[in-house]
Amino acid sequence: MDKFYITTPIYYPSNKLTLGNCYTTVICDAVARFNRMQGKDVFFLTGTDEHGQKISQSAAKQGKSEKEYLDEIIADTKNLWQLLGITYDKFIRTTDPEHEKTVQKIFNTLYEKGYIYKGHYKGWYCTPCEAFWTESQLVNGKCPDCGREVSVQEEEAYFFKLSDFTDKLLKLYQDNPEFLQPQSRVNEMVNNFLKGGLDDLCVTRTSVKWGVPVEFDPKHTIYVWIDALSNYISALGYGSEDDSNFKKYWPADVHIIGKEIVRFHAIIWPAILMALDLPLPKRVFGHGWMLFGGDKLSKSKDTGSVECIDPRVLVPNYSADAVRYILLREIPFGSDGNYSTEIFLNRFNSDLSNNYGNLVSRTLGMLKKYFASVVPEVKDDNLEASGELKEVVKTETAKVFEYMKNFDVSKSLASIFNIFSQANKYIEKTEPWALSKDENKKQTLANVMRNLLETIRIGSLLLQSFLPECATKTLNSLRANEGDFKNIQKFYALKTGSEIEPTGMLFPRLDIAAELEKLKNIQ
Ligand code: MSP
Repeated sequence: MDKFYITTPIYYPSNKLTLGNCYTTVICDAVARFNRMQGKDVFFLTGTDEHGQKISQSAAKQGKSEKEYLDEIIADTKNLWQLLGITYDKFIRTTDPEHEKTVQKIFNTLYEKGYIYKGHYKGWYCTPCEAFWTESQLVNGKCPDCGREVSVQEEEAYFFKLSDFTDKLLKLYQDNPEFLQPQSRVNEMVNNFLKGGLDDLCVTRTSVKWGVPVEFDPKHTIYVWIDALSNYISALGYGSEDDSNFKKYWPADVHIIGKEIVRFHAIIWPAILMALDLPLPKRVFGHGWMLFGGDKLSKSKDTGSVECIDPRVLVPNYSADAVRYILLREIPFGSDGNYSTEIFLNRFNSDLSNNYGNLVSRTLGMLKKYFASVVPEVKDDNLEASGELKEVVKTETAKVFEYMKNFDVSKSLASIFNIFSQANKYIEKTEPWALSKDENKKQTLANVMRNLLETIRIGSLLLQSFLPECATKTLNSLRANEGDFKNIQKFYALKTGSEIEPTGMLFPRLDIAAELEKLKNIQ
C-alpha cells in the first residue's frame, strides 16, 4: 500500500491558536483525508513547539508554571482540532520526553560528526521572536518578523556548520524542482540566502532555560530550530527503540507550512538531514497568509471594529464545515488572501446554502414527490443537457485529482462547486416539475432525477475530504457512503430501487446583517 506522510508546522502555544493557525491545519486535514480516500496509508502529524523564552514569559504572566500553562493551552488546542474535525494520527509536543531524548541524540550525532562546534555568538536579538538577526536583515533597525525593538546580545554558543551546505542546497533545488513549492519560494531562498553563501547557525542558548539541555554541556539549551524541526522524525520514533514508523513513513511526502518559515524548512532542515545522512522530505509547500484587515494577525481586539473571528465561536454558530470551507476555498493556495466575516457569511449563503445545500434539498424533495424517495432507473437518456452534465462531472472530477497532487485545495473546491452549479443549471433546463405533469415524460423525469442523484453522489464523495460533515450526511442519505473513491469514475453507481432518506436543510440561509451584528457583540 502506498504511504503518505504529511505534517503541519508545530505551533507555538504562547497564545491560544488563531484562525490563521487553523488555515494550515485544515488544509493538511483535507489533503490527509483525500489521500486516505485514495486508499493510501496516511500518517498525519501535528503538534506544538513548547520550548523557549516566550513560553516561560506567557506562563509567568498568568502566574503559572510552564507545565501548568502548557497543559491548559494544549488541551484547548486539541479541543479546537476536534471541533474542526481534524484527523491527525499523532499530536507531538516538544516537551514529550521521547522527543527531548531524540533531540539530544541528534545534537550529539551532529557534534560527533563535526557539524557542530563551540564558539561565541553576537547579534541583534528579538526577544519575543527568539531570533538573532544580522545587521542587514533588520528592517529600519527593528525585527524583520514582528517589527519590534532588538538589542545586541553575546553569548557562548554551539554552531551548526550550515555554511557547508550552500552548494548542496542549490543543487537540491536544481535537481528537484518539486522540492520547494510554489516556485516563487525557491527564488526567495536562492536570492535572499543562498546566493551570498550561508552563515553558520547558532543552535544553542545559555540565556534560555526552558529548553532541551545539551547532554554533554547542560548549561546550554538546544535552540528552537533543531528542537522544533526534529519533531518530524522524532514523532516517528527516529533514534528510539521502536523506529518502525520512521522506517515506514520517512521521508515525509510533504511539510505544509506558512511562507514565513520556509527558510527553516527549505534550508536548515534539509541541511540537518544531509548532515545526519537521512533522506530529505519529498516536498515542502510554503503557503501564503490569510490576512485579517491586511494583517497576518487579527487586530480585532485592539480596534473593536471587527467582528469575532475566533474559530471556537464560529464553529458552534455556523458549523465546522462552514469554517473549513472558508479556510480551504477563499485564499488561492500559495498566495496571500483576505478574510473578513462578511466574506465568510457571503460564501456561506452563496456556495453552501444556495448552491450545495439547495441542490441536495431540492433534489431529494423532488425525488420524494415524484418517486416516493426511490432511486429510479435510467433508460434511453438522450437529453443534451444530461450529456453536458456528465461531461462537467467527468472533467471537474479529473481536475480535482490533478489539483490535489499539488495540494491545491482552493481550486479543487472550485471544481467541486462547478459540479453543483452545473447540476442546479440542469434542474433549471430540464424543469422536472413540468416533466412531472406530462404522463409521456415519466422516463425523462426518471432519467433527470437519477442523473441529479448520481451527480450529488460524486460531488459529495469529492467534497467529503473538505467538508466531511455535510458530505457524509448526504452520502448516508443516498446510502452511498463507501468511504473511498472506488466508484468515483462510474456515473451510475447507486442502487436502482433503493430508498433514499431526506437530509433536512444542510445550510439554512443566513441574514448577513443580523449575523454581523451578533458577532460584533460577542467580541
Ligand atoms: N513553531 C513554529 C513552527 C515550527 S515547525 C518545525 C511556528 N509556530 S507558529 O505558531 O508561529 O505557527 C506558524 C504557522 O501558523 C505558520 O507557518 C502558518 O502555517 C500558520 N499561520 C499562522 N497565521 C497564519 C495566517 N494568518 N495565515 C496563514 N497561516 C498562518 O512558526
